[in-house]
Amino acid sequence: MRPARRLERVPPYFFAEMDRTKARLRRNGADLIDLGVGDPDIPTPGPVIQKLCEQASVPANHRYPAYEGSGEFRHYLSRFGVRLDPERQAMALIGSKEGLSHLVWAFADPGDCVLVPDPSYPVYAAQTLLAGASPFYMPLEKEDDFLPDLGSIPPGVLSRAKLMFLNYPNNPTSATCSLDFFKEAVGFAREHGILICHDAAYIEMTYDGFLAPSILEVEGAEEVAVETYSWSKPFNMTGWRIAGVVGSEQAISALRVVKTNTDSGQFTAVQMAAVAALEAEPGLFIETMNRTYSARRDVLLEGLSKAGLYPILPRGTFYVWCPVPAGHDSAGFSETLLEQAHVVVIPGSAYGARGEGYVRFALTVGESRLEEAASRIGTVLASRMPGRARGETREWPRPY
Ligand SMILES: Cc1ncc(COP(=O)(O)O)c(C=O)c1O
Repeated sequence: MRPARRLERVPPYFFAEMDRTKARLRRNGADLIDLGVGDPDIPTPGPVIQKLCEQASVPANHRYPAYEGSGEFRHYLSRFGVRLDPERQAMALIGSKEGLSHLVWAFADPGDCVLVPDPSYPVYAAQTLLAGASPFYMPLEKEDDFLPDLGSIPPGVLSRAKLMFLNYPNNPTSATCSLDFFKEAVGFAREHGILICHDAAYIEMTYDGFLAPSILEVEGAEEVAVETYSWSKPFNMTGWRIAGVVGSEQAISALRVVKTNTDSGQFTAVQMAAVAALEAEPGLFIETMNRTYSARRDVLLEGLSKAGLYPILPRGTFYVWCPVPAGHDSAGFSETLLEQAHVVVIPGSAYGARGEGYVRFALTVGESRLEEAASRIGTVLASRMPGRARGETREWPRPY
């Protein structure tokens, strides 16, 4: 038996080794605080579960779902005040990971380029490699507020580029962007004949009064862009596998060709439950969620700061992106935190070469556990770097 050679293009599964270490520590009785995977610890809202139960007993829902998603579900995908034709410009996805992956197959041929932020959600690059195309990594640097410098992409790359991924609020850096940046990106995509896929998985998760823009708010964006929206994080529904894509009609019909030949859509009852989540808004679940995560964020930032680290203040997502102390690399520092503090974080290098020098904390445990995690990290750092002042409280920079 010989699996396809394309599998060799994808780097080995990063989390396997970390999972083994976690299992060993747990077997030895360690009390691990897991701030690794971005999987909400809070249950799905009651009305959403209730709707699923109701809809699960409707016989019409037991048949194959409509490929594109039900009409009602697609209607609700026109969110954020953006007017779209739900028939031609919206489609249900079995989680945004599915849609992002299949979009690559719909657009990238071998020899083509896909513009991928570095660091970023690993699926963009992995699917590009599987499809036989080449990722061109757009560096996201702290000095540039983690926005790509579109003007620096070489002409030789642009002539082969078919698709560009963007993602704000951003995993893993937690950066946000302005509508002006999206305007620039839309103009760029139009000039070079590139489709933008804006992955808006965290668009609802913002803090301190900031509301993240949708790329489709830019005039004419629906001609060159699609946006994926996911129920996973804002409604604590990662296990439900429900998301949607809206925007360019041409891109969505290309995606439809891949999807109709690959899957048969998401269970209609799940789509109806997703509609119930949005119907209960505005403000009901999302505001509560953002209050919860911003309180957790503040606890972790204060704790890490006392521990001697310099985390970046997130305006969105439920991640904290933090430079590692001098003398460490991402993987080594994560391993130290796991082995000695029993705190699980993800090394930035797992998200691309430009993630080196950082680790990512997910705010997926309650405030007291975050406090405990930061305090354990402080103890480990103090023992490894005895000269370092510990317990000093720095003034936290709050730019807004
Ligand atoms: C940036 C980003 N996009 C997409 C996803 C996947 O979301 P979904 O659960 O909708 O597949 C994740 C999950 O962590 C993510 O971080």
